[in-house]
Amino acid sequence: MTIIPLSSLPAVNATLNAVCTFFLLIGFAFIRNGKIRWHRAAMLCAFFCSITFLGFYVYFHVHAGLIRFGGQGWIRPVYFTLLISHTILAITTLPLVIITLAYALSERFSSHRRIAHWTYPIWLYVSVTGVIVYWLLYIAYTPIGAPAVSQIGLPLLHALL
Ligand code: HEM
Repeated sequence: MTIIPLSSLPAVNATLNAVCTFFLLIGFAFIRNGKIRWHRAAMLCAFFCSITFLGFYVYFHVHAGLIRFGGQGWIRPVYFTLLISHTILAITTLPLVIITLAYALSERFSSHRRIAHWTYPIWLYVSVTGVIVYWLLYIAYTPIGAPAVSQIGLPLLHALL
C-alpha cells in the first residue's frame, strides 16, 4: 500500500523544510525570551522534520532517479548557485546539528551555545533554500525526468506557493 505517492514526495519534502524553518525561527525566539523548555521542544521538532526529510529525500531519489532543472537562461546560474550551496551546507549541517543537540541534552550549555551560533544560521539557510530550490525545480519551471507531480499536492505548501 502506498501511503504517499512518489510524485507527491517533493512537495512533502518542501513542506518539511518549511515547517522546519518555522520551528527554527520560533525556537530562537523562545531562547531569547528565556523559555528553555519551549526552545528545547521547538528544536527537537525542527530536528524531527529534518530527519524525516532526509529519509524521504533519499527514498525519492533512489526510486525516481535524477530530476533535471528545466529553466533556461539567467535563472540557471541562480538555481545552481542555490542548489550547490544548499547541498554543501546540508551535508555540513547534519554533524553540526547532532553535536549541538548532544551538548544541549547533556546540559553542557556553554558549549551548546558556542556551536549553536554556527549550527543555527547554517541550518536555517539550508531549510529556507530547500523550499526555494523545490519551488524553482518543480513549480516555477517544468522539471525534466520527474514523475508527474500530484495535483492533490500538499495543502500547506500549495497554499503558500
Ligand atoms: C540542534 C538544535 C538546537 C539549536 C540549533 C539550538 C540553538 C541555540 C542557539 C542559537 C542558542 C543561543 C541563543 C542566543 O544567542 O541567545 C541556544 C541557547 C540555548 N539552548 Fe539551544 N538549540 C538547540 C537545541 C537545544 C536543546 C535540545 C536544548 C535543551 C534544553 C537547548 C537549550 C539551550 C539553552 C539552555 C540555551 C542557553 C545557553 C546559554 O545562554 O548559556 N537547546 N540554542
